[in-house]
Amino acid sequence: MKILILGVNGFIGSHLTERILRDKDWEVYGLDIRFDKLGSVIRHPRFHFVKGDITVNKKWIDYNIKKCDVVLPLVAIATPATYVKHPLKVFNLDFEANLEVIKSAVKHNTRVIFPSTSEVYGMCTDEIFDEDKSNFIVGPINKQRWIYSCCKQLLDRVLWAYGFEKGFNFSTFRPYNWLGPRLDSISATKEGSSRVVTQFIGNILRDEPMKLVNGGHQKRCFLYVDDGIDCLIKIIENKGGVCDREIINIGNPDNNITIRDLAARIKKIFERHPLVKSKVLKKKVRIEDISQDRFYGEGYQDVTFRVPSIKKARTLLGWEPKYDVDTALMKTVDYYIREYIEDKKRCGKELR
Ligand code: UGA
Repeated sequence: MKILILGVNGFIGSHLTERILRDKDWEVYGLDIRFDKLGSVIRHPRFHFVKGDITVNKKWIDYNIKKCDVVLPLVAIATPATYVKHPLKVFNLDFEANLEVIKSAVKHNTRVIFPSTSEVYGMCTDEIFDEDKSNFIVGPINKQRWIYSCCKQLLDRVLWAYGFEKGFNFSTFRPYNWLGPRLDSISATKEGSSRVVTQFIGNILRDEPMKLVNGGHQKRCFLYVDDGIDCLIKIIENKGGVCDREIINIGNPDNNITIRDLAARIKKIFERHPLVKSKVLKKKVRIEDISQDRFYGEGYQDVTFRVPSIKKARTLLGWEPKYDVDTALMKTVDYYIREYIEDKKRCGKELR
């Protein structure tokens, strides 16, 4: 099988590529503006990488969509602070650029595996979010945080419409707060420039307090990236066509914790980490409260809870998440601590 991954150097793209090349005999064609997360994978004989931009390298994309069996358009801005500050950037990239990719896939009849998001459900009041039954509830237009949710929702609907009217084949997956190595860069110092787990780890490493937006009472279900990739591989394989024109939540309903609890767990993991205990790395962990207006600005609204139904992933694919939240956090924190130390060494800076 030939797989085209746009945004191959991203969090999901890099983990997926690594796994495919390790476990499958598939060829991977990848495009990205950077390759820093790909490591030695870049030299793998079954990996064909091109450095480029989906808004520029359109001919290459169209040609490779025609050549491949499946395309995963993974390029998107996925950080809430950017939805609030630069909603048009989100629209241009997440919606407009990806719509072109989808149209090219329809033209060449190449299966699309589309990364939707848990954010499409917005402030849905269901206890668990069902792919085919739950309503989507988003706030008013002046809360531009919802532009990401709406961009993804409309592309979900466009794909559905191509399936409905033209029999086009696609599968849509909805990640729920995946975490793991390479999630976001922690060297970014801007408030809110990454997702909560990497924001908190970065805060500690930069000697800043972790900031709990609105007291941190809101909840998220965290899923370790390896679990997510297990499911994604099964979706790509699509044995017996079980995922044809299906939308599938990928999350861990058992890892449902408040953001306050998340901060407390990360604090504990840091304090017990061997490199911190042995004082190789000296870090004092602090937690503070902050209002959402101060943290994100007025265009923000939060999701207080979101729990996925994973009945579909279980029944269609026989998938089950394996990692509990502490193991997922431990692996992630450990990765970033070691990266931080390596980075300091590389730059010849003193370790604190
Ligand atoms: C995220 C992003 O929109 C996407 O990456 C993604 O599609 C989706 O969720 C997902 O992975 O399911 P969200 O969970 O709201 O949305 O984003 P985070 O930035 O990770 O924030 C989670 C919660 O922590 C929010 O309630 C936020 O207000 C809070 N937070 C964030 C803090 O309390 N402190 C911080 O420093 C950062």
